[in-house]
Amino acid sequence: MERVKQSVVIAGGGSTYTAGIVMMLIENRDKFPLRKLKLYDNDKNRQEIIAKACEVIVKERAPEIEFVATTDPQIAFSDVDFVMAHIRAGGLKMREMDEKIPLKYGVVGQETCGPGGIAYGMRSIPAVIELIDFMEKYSPNAWMLNYSNPASIVAEATKRFRPKSKIINICDMPIAIKKSLATILGLKNENDIVDRYYGLNHFGWWSELRDKDGNDLMPKLKEHVKQFGYVAKTNEENPLLNESSWMDTFKKAKDVYAVDPETIPSTYLKYYLYPDYVVEHSNPNYTRANEVMDYREKNIFAECKRIAENNSAKDTNIEAGEHAEFIVQLAKALAYNTHERMLLIVENNGAIANLGDDVMVEVPCIVSKRGYEPLSMGKIPTFQKGMIEQQVASEKLVVDAFEYKSYQKLWQAITLSKTVPSAKVAKDILDDLIEANKDFWPTLQ
Ligand code: NAD
Ligand code: G6P
Ligand code: MN
Repeated sequence: MERVKQSVVIAGGGSTYTAGIVMMLIENRDKFPLRKLKLYDNDKNRQEIIAKACEVIVKERAPEIEFVATTDPQIAFSDVDFVMAHIRAGGLKMREMDEKIPLKYGVVGQETCGPGGIAYGMRSIPAVIELIDFMEKYSPNAWMLNYSNPASIVAEATKRFRPKSKIINICDMPIAIKKSLATILGLKNENDIVDRYYGLNHFGWWSELRDKDGNDLMPKLKEHVKQFGYVAKTNEENPLLNESSWMDTFKKAKDVYAVDPETIPSTYLKYYLYPDYVVEHSNPNYTRANEVMDYREKNIFAECKRIAENNSAKDTNIEAGEHAEFIVQLAKALAYNTHERMLLIVENNGAIANLGDDVMVEVPCIVSKRGYEPLSMGKIPTFQKGMIEQQVASEKLVVDAFEYKSYQKLWQAITLSKTVPSAKVAKDILDDLIEANKDFWPTLQ
């Protein structure tokens, strides 16, 4: 049967990930045909560089698709079926502050974890809500697939402030980890692994991993992970591991795993379980934001300029990786009812039996035309339950702080983060973050 053609807007058109998603959309157009592809950003100059290259790519590879780049919300959000969002409120410059301020006080400085993630959350909440409102005004039947971080806090806020909205918050980390696990196991494709996984975004555990025939993959994996973490003998298939900081994180999974050898953990748990190690191995004057600005951002923008100048992308090295594959796979499942099993960030409602119904959890879901249905993960062990409940309380307090413009709640949120040693340190960090974020946060009372 002929598939109905889709119209997609990428919000955060100037993102370092946009060109990869455009590539993936074009490569998949037999299974996910497009009639229109739009880019939207609130920074015209930044988006223009990426957009010019994307225009060349579309013209060269799929000229039947209408391509538009705009900063006008009405043009961007009218007549769309999907909004693929990945905005960074405050940009990489503010990410740098999120990372460096906590480190000044000997605390983990990270994009989505600890005080840095909390600061980023306070900036992202109103920005993502604005995107939802644009979508609901101009294309009320569309779905928003949202990568914008910190996904856990954003998910709590969108559920609370726009409970009926058609937004699905997502993360590519489990896929990136599964790519390594597949290599370790000698499987061709990470999608050949069927998983049971529970937790929050960047805060979860696999309780089961099986192949498509139902064979248990855990024993072989555990043997490997306890010695080498998530680093396989060859890592060519995982481009993430060309970067030394990611390689370190994948190695450190060995120690994260050791804390509970019954499960396979998210790499992000290193920030909560080994914050002392992370701080010792951080450079307070040169953090991940600096690396991203010096490499990924520089390279992508240079390549996009080159494509525009040559008016051709035939020889480009821009690749459609698993990050792009995941979001396109999700759109496909919603549009064409594929009943794909995918990890999504959704309201618990019993999926994890011994956690509150209103917690935004990350669990496997079946995705179809009617939306997503979370699968039941049963009861989780005391260790994970304890960690998750502390983290949920911290994240809910961030959203409370935003809602009530409350200094007290934000202080409590930072104090509750397992990365922070005391209420005193939390307050010192908070006071610096308030100063750094004065152009973004509401004034706290
Ligand atoms: P980036 O800074 O390169 O791009 C973000 C773009 O968003 C910029 O062009 C910026 O101008 C634009 N933007 C910012 N605020 C906006 C607003 N209010 N409205 C419209 N546009 C706005 O960032 P990046 O490194 O490419 O990352 C983009 C986002 O994707 C980040 O939030 C990052 O954390 C997230 N991300 C999430 C996952 C995940 O697993 N959930 C994976 C990768 C990236
Ligand atoms: C993974 C996570 C994302 C995070 C990204 C950071 O993909 O799932 O949530 O934004 O890593 O990567 P970076 O290369 O920007 O440090
Ligand atoms: Mn993520």
